Amino acid sequence: MNRPIVRHAPIVPGVPHLLHGGDYNPDQWRASKETTWKEDVRLARLAGINTLSVGIFAWAALEPEEGRYEFGWLDEILDLMAENEITAVLATPTGARPGWMSRAYPEVLRVNRDRTKNRHGGRHNHCLTSPVYREKTTAINTALAERYRDHPALGLWHLSNEYGGECHCDLCQERFREYLQTRFASLDELNEAWWTAFWAKTYGDWSHIESPSEHGHGEQDIHGLQLEWMRFTTEQFVDFYEHETAPLKAITPDVPRTTNLMGTYPGIDYFRLAQALDVVSWDSYPEWTGTEKDAAKGARASFLHDLTRSLKGKPFMLMESSPSATNWRPVAKLHRPGVHLLQSLQAVAHGSDTVQYFQFRKGRGGSEKFHGAVVDHEGTERTRVFQDVAEVGARLAELDGVVGTDTPADVAVVYDWHLRWALEDQKGMLQGRTDYEGAVVAHYRAFWEQGVPTDVIDSSLIASPGYLDRYKVLVAPMLYMLRPGVAEAIDAFVQRGGTFVATYATGYVDEHDRTFLGGFPGPLRETLGIWAEEIDALYPEDRNAIEWDGTAYEARELCELIHAETAEPLGAYGSDFYAGRPALTVNRRGEGRAYFIAARTGDDFLADFYGRLVAEAGVERALDADLPAGVTAQVRTDGTTDFVFVLNFTPAAVTVEAGGETIALAPFGNAVVERPRAQ
Ligand code: GLA
Ligand code: ZN
Repeated sequence: MNRPIVRHAPIVPGVPHLLHGGDYNPDQWRASKETTWKEDVRLARLAGINTLSVGIFAWAALEPEEGRYEFGWLDEILDLMAENEITAVLATPTGARPGWMSRAYPEVLRVNRDRTKNRHGGRHNHCLTSPVYREKTTAINTALAERYRDHPALGLWHLSNEYGGECHCDLCQERFREYLQTRFASLDELNEAWWTAFWAKTYGDWSHIESPSEHGHGEQDIHGLQLEWMRFTTEQFVDFYEHETAPLKAITPDVPRTTNLMGTYPGIDYFRLAQALDVVSWDSYPEWTGTEKDAAKGARASFLHDLTRSLKGKPFMLMESSPSATNWRPVAKLHRPGVHLLQSLQAVAHGSDTVQYFQFRKGRGGSEKFHGAVVDHEGTERTRVFQDVAEVGARLAELDGVVGTDTPADVAVVYDWHLRWALEDQKGMLQGRTDYEGAVVAHYRAFWEQGVPTDVIDSSLIASPGYLDRYKVLVAPMLYMLRPGVAEAIDAFVQRGGTFVATYATGYVDEHDRTFLGGFPGPLRETLGIWAEEIDALYPEDRNAIEWDGTAYEARELCELIHAETAEPLGAYGSDFYAGRPALTVNRRGEGRAYFIAARTGDDFLADFYGRLVAEAGVERALDADLPAGVTAQVRTDGTTDFVFVLNFTPAAVTVEAGGETIALAPFGNAVVERPRAQ
């Protein structure tokens, strides 16, 4: 690895353990608190739970009428938690509003893209611009921080819940125009960037600009508008987070703050939002099927953990996961034996210092009454799920040494929100079916199957000076948009000896979604040593092939027709009018190499290609072993001791031979191996 190992402080200062717990709603059980709350802490301790997240949707319980606070119940529950050594993740309640606010101040209600205004109800549906909503947020957050600033249970602030959506009200329109004036020096510049001469869309005045709508301008005509709207929406959440955080920061400066993210949720650029957070946390709900399909599900879940960790490049929190069924999935499958422990250790393996659930106790009513929970409606420790959770608690308690450890990676795979917004809007290729995320995960999986630890980074990190120096390999599937500085940073990385892998659909547009002139892949043309002249879209049933080293690998979906300029052709198309033309190339440049894969392939090609590349580039694997399909190995280290997590995402028992040892893994089983770190 090209960077020093870092040992991070525990997430909650003074709590040097992996945190185990989850969302807890004692406010729903106030009527029976004498028995239920006491039983809750008994059960929590029995399950090895050392943290509970409280107050997440408790605004109506905390402020039943405007300005009248009821903190008594929260005082009691926090005292009970402190007595039982349970750290509180204390939430600001802004994820759902009390009814009085919507009635008194309709401006807080969100307006949808179709310009309909919401009624009161649901959650996550506020106007973030609304001065009233902001004022009420400051008031409740200030009151909470002042009341609990010295409470011994307070460990961490959980801001709101799963920020998401967007608002198109008049207040937000005004704010959007203000934002645009910070992005563009003049309206002329904006018109040029958005190519508004197309279809007579030229704006004559800032006031003519409106947010995208199905009934007006949108991704059907001005792509630049849609792109800038997504950036604006991201900035709205960053700004709102900072607004919410201000009183907490002022009153409890030493208590870290987070908000829970959602993997690749498309509505917010999480790399940007993460800059505002002290620690990143996220909610993971993989769809485990109990079959061999779980190998693919496992790879995707790992990808999302790695992405979340890479947002800040340090340990993160698994803020929510289901200990059993996930009620909102069309098939709310139970976790098969082993799966709960597997998914929990998987998160830790990838850098989480917590395993938390939604939720601790199942509610009696509402739409989530059948969601998996630690404590079932039955109410005791007798359930299978409770025993599963207690097993996780026991295992985590043995892993204090993992707290704050690093996750070294020689490889980075690129996943970029801005690129995704542009790629998914474009009309051409396979419009609406470009499957960007699927393509990225397919490349990621080829490393996962080899037990190669991987970071997942975006253009903002690529372009930050020196960032790429830590990696040996950079993989950027469908790098359609090249934001400023990205091509230059990649070229320097290659020149210095890095290995870069790019694919079809690379280097088409700039940050405003304007195509590059002078041949694709635009500013990466010299780095890759190719010119991509055309791209062929295939019908779902159509296949071509990449013939490479004696094997014909399936090519499908998109086949780019390229010219090898300075690059050396390694593989060629198997059929159609472009049979024989290059489909796989390598460009030797400076000390490094830049590969180009011209078509979408299956996993077989990626496995063979990256198998060789890992060996050639001298990439570190977590375990020097041939891993069976669906088994991965990941490593955390403090620089002296490695903790190697070997995880089996298949319904079959398997063995792994490593360094003369045999590691036996049960179906959906795991092993954590400690070894001295090779220096
Ligand atoms: C999300 C929310 C929780 C709950 C769970 C259910 O992650 O944050 O409040 O609704 O989903 O899976
Ligand atoms: Zn609004």
